[in-house]
Amino acid sequence: MSAMQRLAPVLMPGAPLLTLSGVSRRYGAVRALQDVALTVWPGEVLGIVGESGSGKSTLLRMLNLEDTPDAGDYRLALPESPGNLFALGRFARRQLCARAIGIVYQNPHLGLLMAHSSSGNVAERLLIAGERSFARLRARAREALEASEFPLSRLDDPPRDLSGGMQQRVQLAKAIALEPALLLLDEPTTGLDVSVQALVLDTLKRLQRDRRITMVIVSHDLGVIRTMADRVVVMRHGRVVEEGLVDQVFQDPQHPYTQELVHAKL
Ligand SMILES: Nc1ncnc2c1ncn2[C@@H]1O[C@H](COP(=O)(O)OP(=O)(O)O)[C@@H](O)[C@H]1O
Ligand SMILES: [Mg+2]
Repeated sequence: MSAMQRLAPVLMPGAPLLTLSGVSRRYGAVRALQDVALTVWPGEVLGIVGESGSGKSTLLRMLNLEDTPDAGDYRLALPESPGNLFALGRFARRQLCARAIGIVYQNPHLGLLMAHSSSGNVAERLLIAGERSFARLRARAREALEASEFPLSRLDDPPRDLSGGMQQRVQLAKAIALEPALLLLDEPTTGLDVSVQALVLDTLKRLQRDRRITMVIVSHDLGVIRTMADRVVVMRHGRVVEEGLVDQVFQDPQHPYTQELVHAKL
């Protein structure tokens, strides 16, 4: 990949991979998302930051087509992606997600079968996408786990016997096994020991560097966003209150809420 392509998100916007607009979602009286718009360019890492309850996980669930908003439009610039994805039925959603989107949840129980082997968890994802050869399943699962820096001596261990950091690596392997166009990460290191957190972030950074996977990473931790993201969106009460390049937003926050968030962490 040429240097020009690598700089594309910042210097040559071209066509975005992901375009979300006008997304609103209420749960009873709670307005979890209010008229949210996002644009993500190929190869870019977009960070989403905001205090607990600001709508970050709801937004990521929308991007993974797990939930449908009351209003809104979601497009991915992929050959197999037809128009507004929120209009797709359950089966078409599942197919598109299996092929194009990977997700890592904060809670490994949401992403993994805790009693199945680690390699089986990854193979299951490949099976959904139609891989039927046992040898290829095993080889590709192993490859994805290796790329996630999971110890191959533990391929057969179930996630319930693994540490939190290792569980996140299995989730990551599962998420990247099909080389998704879009990788979604919801607080992938929250709750891990600080040293383990740094190791998992290193793996994510390396994967991003080597494969240029387009990522949307959610965290309430500004440090994580600073380490990972090119651009950041700041959410509050279900709305985007500020966005920009990470350095710019953290050095010179414009919105009073972002100023508070940044200064609270200094
Ligand atoms: N399935 C749901 N049912 C009811 N309320 C929900 C649901 N999901 C999220 N909420 C509410 O929406 C708001 C945003 O939640 P969430 O997206 O989880 O925030 P964050 O991830 O930023 O902490 C919160 O007030 C939360 O209680
Ligand atoms: Mg959340």
